[in-house]
Amino acid sequence: MNSKLSFPLFLIAVVLIAHSAASDSTKPREKRSPKPQIGRLFGFLAKWVAQAVKQSPTAIRLIRRVKAASTAVSKNPETAAGTAAAAAAAGAAVGVGVVVASQPGKKQCAVYIKRDLPELQPVFIKDGTPRSLMMPRDGYLTWGHGETSSIACPPSAGSQNYIRATNTIVATITCDNGLMFEMSARRVNISTVTCARKVTGNYRPKPDPQCAGTNKAIGFNVPFPTGDIFFDLFYSCFDETRGSTLFTHHVLFGNEIDHKCIYGSSRPDFKSAGFPDNFFISTAYTQLSQKARLTDLFNVRMSNPVAQAEAQRYIFDHSYLQKGHLTPDGDELFTTWQWSTYFFINVAGMWESINIGNWKNLETKVRTLANETKENLEIYTGTYETLALCSTNNYCPDFTLVTGGIPVPKWLWKIVKAPSIDAAIALVVSNNPVGAVNPICETGAVNYGWHQNGFDNFSSGKVSYCTVQELQNVVGYIPQAALATNVLAF
Ligand SMILES: *[C@@H]1O[C@H](CO)[C@@H](O)[C@H](O)[C@H]1NC(C)=O
Ligand SMILES: *[C@@H]1O[C@H](CO)[C@@H](O)[C@H](O)[C@H]1NC(C)=O
Ligand SMILES: *[C@@H]1O[C@H](CO)[C@@H](O)[C@H](O)[C@H]1NC(C)=O
Repeated sequence: MNSKLSFPLFLIAVVLIAHSAASDSTKPREKRSPKPQIGRLFGFLAKWVAQAVKQSPTAIRLIRRVKAASTAVSKNPETAAGTAAAAAAAGAAVGVGVVVASQPGKKQCAVYIKRDLPELQPVFIKDGTPRSLMMPRDGYLTWGHGETSSIACPPSAGSQNYIRATNTIVATITCDNGLMFEMSARRVNISTVTCARKVTGNYRPKPDPQCAGTNKAIGFNVPFPTGDIFFDLFYSCFDETRGSTLFTHHVLFGNEIDHKCIYGSSRPDFKSAGFPDNFFISTAYTQLSQKARLTDLFNVRMSNPVAQAEAQRYIFDHSYLQKGHLTPDGDELFTTWQWSTYFFINVAGMWESINIGNWKNLETKVRTLANETKENLEIYTGTYETLALCSTNNYCPDFTLVTGGIPVPKWLWKIVKAPSIDAAIALVVSNNPVGAVNPICETGAVNYGWHQNGFDNFSSGKVSYCTVQELQNVVGYIPQAALATNVLAF
């Protein structure tokens, strides 16, 4: 075992022993013999350990509640060696968990979201004070007989929508039995209740001191008879002056992700709502526009035909910038939630080979972790710096998609945080398919078990691995809420 890691692991073990001893001694009253010396010793040890751990964070893993399907686990000796002790530590933190069998329980109505909801499904809202988006449990939405909920087909800006069966945007449904509900004095099979169009979400400003730019919420604006209610789904922290998303923040529901709705058909168009008008975002991402823009940038220093040829070296066939999701479509549960990720304030320019390469592989890996551990993970996904592209004679302008805005990020990053064990990792991807670059925060060869085949290939987006603190030291706008005491090993 690496000595750098074994020491903190030993300390963790000591703390765990101390902790279990301490809690044992406080439980049954009759056993409570006073042992002040030992108590004081443990107190001292705990403080000392806390300090030591703070100085060099410990890598810990979440408990796998589902057997990994493949042998994708990294052979990184540090993580492998640390696994037993780390699992013990994680176990102490989250408790011994049992996977709840997928079943609706005693409830009268049960809707398995992956099977029972149509593609043009409405948004399900839990009635209560306050109302909230309805969450499935083990993939099921459930109701007792006579219990009500609201459903809605909220229109997005500039379009119309409504529940087909009622011609209204909102309706109340009352559980009868199975998939059968009462809605507007009619008995309906909820599997057949559809919206006129796709529900693709709404935007509203949502100030947040953790965001160094303008914080924006994406969710659903539902016009109840008593007034509009906005249900937040995820957030985009946005730089208005540069027309660039600093980061987004969403929750990946580990216990539910395997039950998510899957409809392969058409994706919605990306929406400009929330994006400042002066950047003309809706046309900035066309391949033609990218080539013209890069030509303009090179044209400052060279004649037009040369500039055009230089631009052509970067933008051609399968080399161009895609509208890369920050909060991924695939992390969301309902089709309505997935479609609500199609906002330009949730996008960064990513090279095709990277977006469909390691960026996608990384997203999949994070979902695998959530699925196997059944944990709710807090995910922050962001950008950093502007990519400069060089001409053959070494003129290297920053690539912004329009004059003074929409920078193409040089770096993409994703922070995955497991609050239950106070652990997080920062995964950084280089958005430069034509050259190797020094990582911004990687301290060494440590990858905490996150490395996989191809992650070091820069043409598909080289991945590097940092503690959140290390990344925050470089990227100042990473919110404090993303920090954690421990490093989240895969
Ligand atoms: C409800 O509709 C679905 C989809 O059309 C169908 O498979 C199911 O059998 C129906 N259930 C009932 C109780 O009518
Ligand atoms: C989740 O885990 C189960 C059981 O190992 C597996 O069958 C399923 O494909 C996984 N789903 C996802 C989304 O990774
Ligand atoms: C690196 O990635 C590129 C683009 O995705 C791919 O064409 C190439 O085969 C990869 N190289 C290696 C050594 O895997």
